[in-house]
Amino acid sequence: MTSPYYLTTPIYYVNAKPHLGHAYTTIIGDALARWHRLLGEDVHYLTGTDEHGLKIQQAADAAGKTPQQFTDEIAPQFQEAWRRLGISNDDFIRTTEARHKVGVQQLLQACYDAGDIELDVYAGKYCVACEEYYSDEELLEGDLCPIHKRTVEYFEEENYFFRLSRFQDRLLDWYAAHPGAIVPEFRGNEALGLIRGGLRDFSVSRTSLQWGIPLPWDPKHVAYVWFDALANYITAVGYGTDQERFEQWWPARHLIGKDIIRHHCVYWPAMLLSAGIEPPAGWAVGGWLLVGGEKMSKTSGNVVNPLDLIDDVGVDGFRYYVLADTTYGHDGDFTYEGLIGRYNSDLANNLGNLLSRVATVVGKKCDGVGPAPRTDSPLAEAAASAWEGTATGWAEVQPNRALEATWSLIRATNAYLEANEPWKAEPGAEVDAVMGDALEALRIVAILASPALPSTCQTVWERIGLPGRVSDQRLPDAAAWGAYPGGVSVVKGDPLFPRK
Ligand code: ME8
Ligand code: MG
Repeated sequence: MTSPYYLTTPIYYVNAKPHLGHAYTTIIGDALARWHRLLGEDVHYLTGTDEHGLKIQQAADAAGKTPQQFTDEIAPQFQEAWRRLGISNDDFIRTTEARHKVGVQQLLQACYDAGDIELDVYAGKYCVACEEYYSDEELLEGDLCPIHKRTVEYFEEENYFFRLSRFQDRLLDWYAAHPGAIVPEFRGNEALGLIRGGLRDFSVSRTSLQWGIPLPWDPKHVAYVWFDALANYITAVGYGTDQERFEQWWPARHLIGKDIIRHHCVYWPAMLLSAGIEPPAGWAVGGWLLVGGEKMSKTSGNVVNPLDLIDDVGVDGFRYYVLADTTYGHDGDFTYEGLIGRYNSDLANNLGNLLSRVATVVGKKCDGVGPAPRTDSPLAEAAASAWEGTATGWAEVQPNRALEATWSLIRATNAYLEANEPWKAEPGAEVDAVMGDALEALRIVAILASPALPSTCQTVWERIGLPGRVSDQRLPDAAAWGAYPGGVSVVKGDPLFPRK
């Protein structure tokens, strides 16, 4: 029995096409999913689109389309973007699908039957971009939303309310019993701060809007878009349609941005506890990618299209930048210079150069046949610590640390070649031993770096003469020193990353 690893991204609003911020979270999730597949776990990686609610209704109105037509045009653009970025999601859920509607209604009914959803009147200030009510203390000067810096609207409605206020102790107890459930820790503290600060009931229905899922017991109300959206994580794996499948996968690990901590780490576990469902297995909370110091967002209008960047540095060049250049959990700045700088230093000069000099020397001094490594190679220790550091980095959802550890082996191997200068030596046993060691290091690098650079690592794998797919390797065994077979042909090929 392999252990299930169910990983999710937020489901993105389809009011406009995907931007770099969405790609950021989705690429991190993809690399994590690929890492866990290498560990031999049974991975299910889910992403999708959030298609109901006022924000989408308004975007559709502005485009002169029905919301269904509108979302039918935008949702495939997300699917296409993920395909082009090499995202290995196992499923893609749209909240307009029938399987989702059935599950949302079941969840609503379960919370209603538990007595945690009740009718009440609500009046307050609402940010449509957040799909969230704000209290006066939370708003900025001039009634501006703290996230979008735009004017909130005054709404008054008879709504059904989820009695979140009843869950403060249960949530605090649950988090106390599950230390480390939210990483990085300081983001977990933010979530606990929200809970300790007191919980307000939140409305879970709307009558002012039709674009949503009707409440099963009172269909003139549609479900609040966040209640609907959060449920995707359970409806996608069978809640409401296939209980056995649901139990096989749930609970999930959620990747989210810091903008949606309240919904994911406060509302969502309370909704699940109310319905008698176990809370998530964990949350990893990322910071924002900023452009010129501002959060990149559709609402701010400073978006960068990820697909434009892959024309410049390739899919793997772009994926590497996203994973290596920021510290997950903290904000990071997107700059074009940073993208090109990373590409040249880490990819062209380090990885690309290593493969090309190894293939050149093996071609000239070993007749193009890769020799076997030494069992007691001086590089074996660097390889062992690269594996350990890479594993720790991914386990802690710190992709930049994982890649830093992998790259330490690339640097050690380049330094080893520079110290031994096999290109100056006569062909023979000494050159063979050095080149065997370098090939073995490249084999291990190809495996460890493959979650970040899937297609490049497959190319490395093939050029050093190894059969099959690098993604079929299984860790930790595959990272143990000494498996490069020797006697296989090594091919030079074009530069992996031509310098920019
Ligand atoms: O909030 N930097 O959808 P959304 C980093 N539909 N990550 C960013 C980012 C940026 N500049 N901009 C967006 C929603 N993201 C809801 C979610 S889930 C049940 C419902 C990423 O389209 C980040 O992960 O506004 C953020 O949390 C998410 O996109 C929000 O996407
Ligand atoms: Mg948003």
